[in-house]
Amino acid sequence: MAAVQVASLHKRFKDIHVLRGLDFTVQPGEGVVLLGANGCGKSTMMRCLNGLTPISGGHTYINDRCLQNASRKEVRQLRRKVGVVFQKFNLVNNLSVYQNVLYGAIGRSPWGLLSTMSPLASAEERDKAMACLERVSLADKANQRAEELSGGQQQRVAIARMLMQEPEIVLADEPIASLDPKSGREVMELLWDVVRERGLTVICTLHQLDIALEYGDRFLGMKAGMIEIDAPRKEVSKDLLNTLYQGQVRVDTLSPVATPTTQPQAANA
Ligand SMILES: Nc1ncnc2c1ncn2[C@@H]1O[C@H](COP(=O)(O)OP(=O)(O)O)[C@@H](O)[C@H]1O
Ligand SMILES: [Mg+2]
Repeated sequence: MAAVQVASLHKRFKDIHVLRGLDFTVQPGEGVVLLGANGCGKSTMMRCLNGLTPISGGHTYINDRCLQNASRKEVRQLRRKVGVVFQKFNLVNNLSVYQNVLYGAIGRSPWGLLSTMSPLASAEERDKAMACLERVSLADKANQRAEELSGGQQQRVAIARMLMQEPEIVLADEPIASLDPKSGREVMELLWDVVRERGLTVICTLHQLDIALEYGDRFLGMKAGMIEIDAPRKEVSKDLLNTLYQGQVRVDTLSPVATPTTQPQAANA
């Protein structure tokens, strides 16, 4: 079973043809670093993967299940398996660190948001939230408001919230781009450690080549809405990755190409 697969993925926004036929498969437990110049379509691709944005052609799969053929309920269930970490942390600033982590349980909670409010959450979920905070070394900050923490600490809270969700797949889009170099490295180290120790599949976009080369079993390189590089670490060099940033890199300067329509396929088990 593949953890993530995209087949002939296209995405357009009006006259911008952002994703121009992407194909790749990620196996369970693989750690993939996704690289490419600004505006080449990385964030759009990540949003297509977890169904946050509808696609214009092709198919995307989570655990071999096609999102385009799944019912709304199935899509919700599949999305629960996908944890996300964003550049901008996306915490609720005026709530406690602990409450932010508890929200990670929202997908499995019997009454949604309500049952992740700290007075109502089950003892088991509350213990889990504390354990997740301990894993990111922030148990002592549990009762502080999220906005009182430094950027690096806030991103560690976001990682704890992602762990609380108990995902199988993690999509991290520029998780350290808003941080200074030192806390960026610490956060990257932590993120990679926690996904590795749990055997999770991860796709992570980064813009610093030096850091990227320290992580990743495999590298996907995008250029102008297409996959240019798909190679295991041993075949990747800084020179090869540098080619992603040369020449025509942005999609908004290109004219659209034909987009195949998304044909419903026979439902797969
Ligand atoms: N919601 C949107 N509406 C219109 N254009 C968009 C939207 N999101 C992204 N784009 C365009 O898609 C292109 C790729 O953007 P993005 O996926 O953010 O690239 P990257 O993450 O690689 O920098 C850009 O030209 C951007 O302007
Ligand atoms: Mg981006």
